[in-house]
Amino acid sequence: MTTQTNLRIEPLHKDFGARVTGIQLSGDLSERELAAVRELIDTHSVLCFPDQDMTDDKQLGFTRLLGEPEPNHVTIGATGVVNYFGTIGNVQDNGEKRGNDHAGTKYQTGNNMWHSDSSFRQLPSFVSILHAYEVPDEGGETAFVSERAAYERLSEAEKERLEPLNVLHDYVFSRSKVAPVDPNHAANMPPVTHKLVKTNPGNGRRNFFIGSHARSINGFTGIESRKLLDDLLERTTREEDIFTQRWRAGDTIIWDNRTTLHRGLGYDADRYRRRMRQTRVTGNEPGVIPS
Ligand code: OGA
Ligand code: MN
Repeated sequence: MTTQTNLRIEPLHKDFGARVTGIQLSGDLSERELAAVRELIDTHSVLCFPDQDMTDDKQLGFTRLLGEPEPNHVTIGATGVVNYFGTIGNVQDNGEKRGNDHAGTKYQTGNNMWHSDSSFRQLPSFVSILHAYEVPDEGGETAFVSERAAYERLSEAEKERLEPLNVLHDYVFSRSKVAPVDPNHAANMPPVTHKLVKTNPGNGRRNFFIGSHARSINGFTGIESRKLLDDLLERTTREEDIFTQRWRAGDTIIWDNRTTLHRGLGYDADRYRRRMRQTRVTGNEPGVIPS
């Protein structure tokens, strides 16, 4: 890559991921830096930028450089207010800490299932950007896997079988497993259909697109659907496929929701504070209308 930037890049995992230094993320990136970050997203899928001097303003400015910020669906669902930040962890914006028994903490345990952010939307997220302000001394890691690497491990016959399939993604299906979904919120979250196999328009690399919101394969019985979706997930999330981020305060991670799954590993919210801020960039690959 000819960047003429000060970026330094080290791999995080044999299949995907890069640790990137020599850049401060904000809305003031040079065009060269922005082009380099875009290429790194397409190539590596998960980027970790340590020691970021982050603020909400810088994060939102940077998010806008990558595309349209995605309104937080929980805030809109509950209050109708558009807010581009998700507060991840147990520390509220006023500094108050919630414990393990708080409904908000329980709700976030939905993030402990492997998922792709907003795959339940008609326009799923392109990337998520998560910055860590406070991290627990133990636990609270985030694990990532590559659906691209997993797809590339399939046989040609398997790839051919997956090619025509469409998948129903359903927020209420996945989230009801951990906590009841507010009925107003649920009413605004109808299931959507996405192609099982995606192609990156820039580099042509392919992957399947699954995760906790993937409920069924169109045209399959319930049991056939579960069998295929569970089999693909299992073959994506073997021990050796996983990169686990042990967060340090100041880390910013960008992950490509088109090609990766992630999950939180949990932490003791009674003992520890975890404060993170998340923005997302809306994707440009709309769901398909099922035939
Ligand atoms: C998220 C998410 C997992 C975690 O922020 O989208 O899934 O470790 N987070 O908090
Ligand atoms: Mn997530």
